[in-house]
Amino acid sequence: MSETTTEPTSPRLPEPFVMVVFGASGDLTRRKILPAIFQLWCRNHLPESAAVIGYSRSDKTDESFRTELCDSMRDELSCHRGLIDDEAWEAFASRIFYQRGAYDSPDDFAALGKRIETLNAERNVPGNCMHYLATPPAAFADIIENIGAASLARRGQTDPWARVVIEKPFGTDLRSARDLNRIARSVFDEDQIFRIDHYLGKETVQNIMVLRFANSIFEHAWCHDYIDHVQITAAESLGVGARGGYYDRSGALRDMVQNHLMHLLCLVAMEPPSALTAVAVRDEKVKVLRALRTIPPLCAASGVVRAQYAAGSIDGREAPGYRQADSVPADSRTETFVAFKAHVDNWRWSGVPFYLRTGKCLPRRCTEISIHFKDVPRVLFNRPPAGPLRPNVLTIRVQPDEGIALEFQAKVPGPAMNIKPLEMDFGYHESFGGAPPEAYQRLLLDAARGDATLFTRSDEVEAAWQFVSPIIEGCSQDTDNLLQYAAGSWGPKEADELIEADGNQWHLR
Ligand code: BG6
Repeated sequence: MSETTTEPTSPRLPEPFVMVVFGASGDLTRRKILPAIFQLWCRNHLPESAAVIGYSRSDKTDESFRTELCDSMRDELSCHRGLIDDEAWEAFASRIFYQRGAYDSPDDFAALGKRIETLNAERNVPGNCMHYLATPPAAFADIIENIGAASLARRGQTDPWARVVIEKPFGTDLRSARDLNRIARSVFDEDQIFRIDHYLGKETVQNIMVLRFANSIFEHAWCHDYIDHVQITAAESLGVGARGGYYDRSGALRDMVQNHLMHLLCLVAMEPPSALTAVAVRDEKVKVLRALRTIPPLCAASGVVRAQYAAGSIDGREAPGYRQADSVPADSRTETFVAFKAHVDNWRWSGVPFYLRTGKCLPRRCTEISIHFKDVPRVLFNRPPAGPLRPNVLTIRVQPDEGIALEFQAKVPGPAMNIKPLEMDFGYHESFGGAPPEAYQRLLLDAARGDATLFTRSDEVEAAWQFVSPIIEGCSQDTDNLLQYAAGSWGPKEADELIEADGNQWHLR
């Protein structure tokens, strides 16, 4: 976040480092992490000597690991951004290595330490090391403790440095998040810990701060005087696919709300930070989380709409229900959809409801934030025959079709005073030529450069759990109120009723 210039600049190159990816055989490594590193390398954003060591329990050689990665990289990159350049891949592949080891074996970590030392010496890397935890969360504690025991954490040192990037989910409730923070901070200093949430790497999400704080017209109206309510929807058209085992223990509240939706809400609601530094930005986000009105367990059961998708059809294709998915128990009570109303109890947002909604197997993939402004007074136009008028809506399309639109009223040409809502629309594709880069690229580059602004701090993750845990607790005490919705619909009717009870409607429907 440190570059504030309006001129295009090349990002600062990280110092040479070795990256160790724990969970090297996993889907995340193949589909997201390595493709992002490869693309950074192709764009000359990484130092020439950078190297990656994949670490996991499976038996592989450097060569077989490279071949496996190349195959999945071809699939991943070719569907999104064109074909993989063979020459570039060959050059990059020679920087990838594999180390077999268990996550709970101090001996295997000692061997990893030796491998890192050898690579440092061969490649003239000064000892900087980025540990990336891309394993299932159950392995996080063992890995962190073994990194510490093998003296690979370099606590208190900045030259050479060591950092740890921890994937989500960070805990399953407030208590487990606190435990994991305690373990991580017993080995690393807080400024070495990078808790990743890929939503913060999305260009459209970073643009929320620019929209608000680089344009004087919005910020003055960004408060309860002018804003009626805010909606945040993260809709996915896919079901849980092959991730049923993980998802069934998680559900939408843990999987999407505690992290992605909370970040979006913070960026919309936060006060302007005093500087674009990791400390200042994250301080303001934490203040929003602490100002969220607690939804006590007893109210969660009645005020939060939770539902699970049943069989239906999406885009003309038949879609099976959640309970038919692999590794999902036939009597699962896990929610795949959730909608609720939140309040940020501070001066700026007093009386402004924030409606949040997320779900799988909805009609289309679309994440958007809409800011609904107050009605103009019911005089002049806002009464018959021209009115009632539609209030202004500012929509931030996080994905896909990334952009921002402002809905406003205009007079239809002609002798009568007819008024019509129109849209001013900015699209990333048209304005910047193409889709924004994958979130992981930006985040990996920031972690390698030591910029933690787009990562979640320990107090932030705990404050988010502090808000979400009572909701989960309330819902788990009353599993009878789990509703159903047909795959391909916008969720149960109760989600519409939730917002209609206040005289509003979902913007995306
Ligand atoms: C992940 C969740 O964090 O985010 C997934 O675990 C979800 O369940 C995904 O599908 C959504 O990410 P995106 O970038 O596709 O909106």
